[in-house]
Amino acid sequence: MDTIYWIIPGKLSNSFANSLKKAAENYNQYNHLVIKKFTDIIDLRDKKIVFAIELDECGFNIPLGEILLKLKERGEDSLSDSKAVIIIHSPNELFTKNTARRIVFLANLLGCRFPGHPVVEATSNLSNLATWQKIYDMSLEKIYQKQIQELIGKLIMERLTIIKHPKILVLHSSSFKTSNTLMLWRMVKDNLRGENLRELHVENGTVVDCRGCSYRTCIHYSEEKSCFYGGIMVKEILPAIEEADCTLWLCPNYNDAVSAKLMAVINRLSVLYKRVKFWDKSLFSIIVSGNSGSDCVAEQLLGALNINKGFRLPPYFALMATANDPGAIRKVQGIEKEAERFAQNMRKEIKK
Ligand SMILES: Cc1cc2nc3c(=O)[nH]c(=O)nc-3n(C[C@H](O)[C@H](O)[C@H](O)COP(=O)(O)O)c2cc1C
Repeated sequence: MDTIYWIIPGKLSNSFANSLKKAAENYNQYNHLVIKKFTDIIDLRDKKIVFAIELDECGFNIPLGEILLKLKERGEDSLSDSKAVIIIHSPNELFTKNTARRIVFLANLLGCRFPGHPVVEATSNLSNLATWQKIYDMSLEKIYQKQIQELIGKLIMERLTIIKHPKILVLHSSSFKTSNTLMLWRMVKDNLRGENLRELHVENGTVVDCRGCSYRTCIHYSEEKSCFYGGIMVKEILPAIEEADCTLWLCPNYNDAVSAKLMAVINRLSVLYKRVKFWDKSLFSIIVSGNSGSDCVAEQLLGALNINKGFRLPPYFALMATANDPGAIRKVQGIEKEAERFAQNMRKEIKK
């Protein structure tokens, strides 16, 4: 019998405990093993894992931190070949997203993969789920339970689909002459010879940010394979993303965030998202910071594209480095080897 590993650190409210109990009962053909604290940790490689996290008023869960630290101490493959999803509960309206992103980021660094849309959130009084009542004639509690059920189903069903000739789309908006991020990409590219690569440069001023049309208007444009603003986004970028099996985002750290140009591309994805599911498209990234903060950029990217838009997240999705002056990336110790390892991981995850 297959086993689902539940990481449920800290104290549980009755309501959260009941929701989890119901979810486990609906999958009673599986063994359920609960890990409450870091001393309970066993070998978690090649496992199906549910992080079920209840936050305190300040958004913390201290025993969760201890568990993640223990896993990190076991080495960067302590979650290799595992996949995970997250159920996260807050006593107020804040912190669920931030903590979920942090868990995904840390677990991914240890080799864990996540399916698209890997998080179910419950903020106070389930108010975050109210929008779903426009679609389902159900109580908030029922919607929450349904989402948990579907999430566990996804954890069980999701399979790695590898392809003979995967199409890899590389998106960037950097200067060819000076960008460390682009130089690092070239090192990776040298190790991807023979692959089906397409590079798109998002030039300044070519992609305006999303206008925020009404849901119905956006659906209308989506059916027409168009968008209110048209331009390169409709002609080139959206069709390229639709066609790609894998997207690689080249992200210099701009004020501890993804650059505005690439963020505009992500915001404008909404119109494609209405028509196409991204679950079988893999998300990778190369991130370079001048000083620090690559984790902020990585978390923003995975938050937008994996948690929100539903791209699948392969293990070790981001290659991160620190380099300040133009060309400094070439002097980072061991960077060529890192680039080679990253390219090998990409191949392993997407190619037959
Ligand atoms: C507008 C702007 C904002 C930046 N903000 C940060 C920052 O917040 N933190 C940091 O470490 N580096 C920051 N940098 C430096 C870049 O991350 C750094 O140059 C790095 O090499 C990646 O950029 P590049 O690919 O353009 O070379 C910033 C650079 C620019 C142009």
